[in-house]
Amino acid sequence: MDTSRRLPLPSSGPLRAGLSRRGFATAVLGATAVTGLPAAAAQAAPAVPAPRGTFDPHDWASVRDQFALSRDHLQFSAYVLASHPRPVRDAINRVRDELDADPIAAGAGFIDEDRSLVVRTSLARYLGADADHVALTDSTTMGLALLYGGLRLRAGQEILTSEHDFYATHQALRLRHQRDGTPVRKIRLYDDPARATTDEIVSRIVRALTPRTRVLALTWVNSDNGVKLPSRAVADALRDVNARRARADHVLLCLDGVHGFAAENATMADLGCDFFATSTHKWLHGPRGTGLLWAKPEHWALVRPVIPNFSREGYEGWVGDRDPVAAPAILGTPGGYHSFEHRWAVPEAVRFHETIGRARITERIKSQAATLKDGLRRLPGVRVLTPDSPSMSAGIVCCTVEGWPAARAEHELRASHQVIATETPYAEPHLRFGPTIVTAPEQVEKVVTAVAALR
Ligand SMILES: Cc1ncc(COP(=O)(O)O)c(C=O)c1O
Repeated sequence: MDTSRRLPLPSSGPLRAGLSRRGFATAVLGATAVTGLPAAAAQAAPAVPAPRGTFDPHDWASVRDQFALSRDHLQFSAYVLASHPRPVRDAINRVRDELDADPIAAGAGFIDEDRSLVVRTSLARYLGADADHVALTDSTTMGLALLYGGLRLRAGQEILTSEHDFYATHQALRLRHQRDGTPVRKIRLYDDPARATTDEIVSRIVRALTPRTRVLALTWVNSDNGVKLPSRAVADALRDVNARRARADHVLLCLDGVHGFAAENATMADLGCDFFATSTHKWLHGPRGTGLLWAKPEHWALVRPVIPNFSREGYEGWVGDRDPVAAPAILGTPGGYHSFEHRWAVPEAVRFHETIGRARITERIKSQAATLKDGLRRLPGVRVLTPDSPSMSAGIVCCTVEGWPAARAEHELRASHQVIATETPYAEPHLRFGPTIVTAPEQVEKVVTAVAALR
């Protein structure tokens, strides 16, 4: 079937030229060390505005200078929604200009597969994974909904989650339960977050598993208290459990990874999970409204897509009245046209991070978090909820302040001390801080002084 006569294929470009998509991605990624855009598009794109000053990735002040964040406040809330660094802003502007000038030539005419492959390839590199297994989403919440809404489960198989998970996981599971009655059970993984240990968490999980448990739905770094789950140890324990089970009954480890992604320097192999959902618009400082869902290659078949994808294979299947055949992550990427100026700028965020150095960024975040926890812990009336140990925590630091409901503390810190922190969106809110690459050690000291002044 010559679908090119029916489908709106691009009149030029690599697909026309007969280049395979993988070859295209390699060619493009090799050719776009600066722009992250396909070579043809990059040539046509307007010139990149000259950066203000020279960006020195080894100088934290220079890194901070790449952000347009207001200097009136100390910005300790990147865990909510990122500010874009200059290379990401420039890429977004560039693509927006292209789309405004000629959406078809920019790549939106025939689906977005070429430029999105560049995005999937750069995210895959970051995850230590393969582009064929990285579906693009708009957020962690969307990824979790696709996963928990689409997972094929046998009648009676249950989902085990924790009481500490966020709304995005709990509500996706509630919707699943309402749709088909899938049982969902919640357990406590620890009683005191500050004292949570790997042994305690792993043993509680293993004890809670039943022969019916098919899915373990957890959050890598809890956003209510900053506890980082020992994903690798959980995965190792599940490996032993699964060794005694039929493949169709294996327990699948699914992670909301958003507060570890780009705060921790870890690959999917390091985590050992089976599914991983995150956005890029928190710790990676990626374009707002972009994210991914990754699955181990052998598990993608377990996820039934719920939103039609916009891919060549999808259209060919439709035209031929048959199921589309394509890489699982292509079929798992929700279609419809998107805010492509954001999606196609994702490689710039990855490149920005890699240029600074992933290990350096993690070390910068963790050392500030350690200083912050140490300073807060010394204050009378302050209870730090986040564990001390770097293996049990990441960048999020949470606490309570005696006599100060979290919302009032948030308001007072902003109004009187120019510190931006937030209350956590949970039933019992806590006060939460996020040291990142836009904050500095001397600012951490000021935060501690500001919290002390709440007394
Ligand atoms: C644990 C957790 N998961 C998911 C989200 C939502 O992230 P996204 O905007 O990527 O859906 C948040 C907070 O915004 C969160 O704290």
